[in-house]
Amino acid sequence: MNIVLLGLPGAGKGTQAKIIVNHLSIPHISTGDLFRQAYQAKTELGLRAKEFMDKGELIPDEVTIGLAFSRIGEVDCARGFLLDGFPRNLNQARALRNYLDSGSKQIRHVVYVEVDENLLLERLTGRRVCVGCGTTFHLIYNPPANDNACDCCNGEIIQREDDREETVKERLKINKELTHKLVQFYGDEGILRKVDGAKGIDEVTKDVLGLF
Ligand code: AP5
Ligand code: MG
Ligand code: ZN
Repeated sequence: MNIVLLGLPGAGKGTQAKIIVNHLSIPHISTGDLFRQAYQAKTELGLRAKEFMDKGELIPDEVTIGLAFSRIGEVDCARGFLLDGFPRNLNQARALRNYLDSGSKQIRHVVYVEVDENLLLERLTGRRVCVGCGTTFHLIYNPPANDNACDCCNGEIIQREDDREETVKERLKINKELTHKLVQFYGDEGILRKVDGAKGIDEVTKDVLGLF
């Protein structure tokens, strides 16, 4: 089963993706995570991507699309995958459709995690992530048991650089219109399902899993 999770920054895509892929036994593909891994490995792609990410801007399509397709083409995606943060604009969505068509594949479900914009600033500025395993926490809604250590791997917990308030505002501004267009695009294709992402994490998971 091939799934796309759509939502504005902070909607809970990554949080839900990690839980859902466990239930469905398919890989989780987050282009944001792939870029952050490339940066940690100090590759040329990662260093270039970081300049855009720190400003809250999108990475150019030719880079992002190539990265996403090479991941989708890996053998563990043959029986399905979940995309988180890709596609992010119409050009990427059309390229994905063409790419999958050429392999006689398709996206079966697009889940739009809908959250009112004024909740997102608080979600993002309060987010903390584990350097070791990438687990996401929130200072209020999902705090780690121990202030500075990850519940899963005891790794260090930090704030993402693009979660500073000014950058968050820029990310929301850039992604708002693009996300709206994707909702229309997949709505027209008849595969869009909406869930209320303002509910608690467990409730949202239940609603998403109820769609499949
Ligand atoms: P990416 O890493 O994908 O960031 P994003 O899209 O801005 O989304 P986030 O990861 O910030 O939010 P999320 O929806 O995953 O929320 P989360 O679950 O963490 O991309 C980063 C950058 O990479 C982009 O800005 C761009 O530069 C580049 N990039 C990536 N993909 C690209 C593409 N396709 N094209 C071009 N450039 C691309 O949750 C947020 C917080 O809320 C957490 O603290 C969490 O604990 C909490 N939370 C989650 N759910 C709930 C809930 N139900 N109730 C209460 N709290 C909750
Ligand atoms: Mg994420
Ligand atoms: Zn960890």
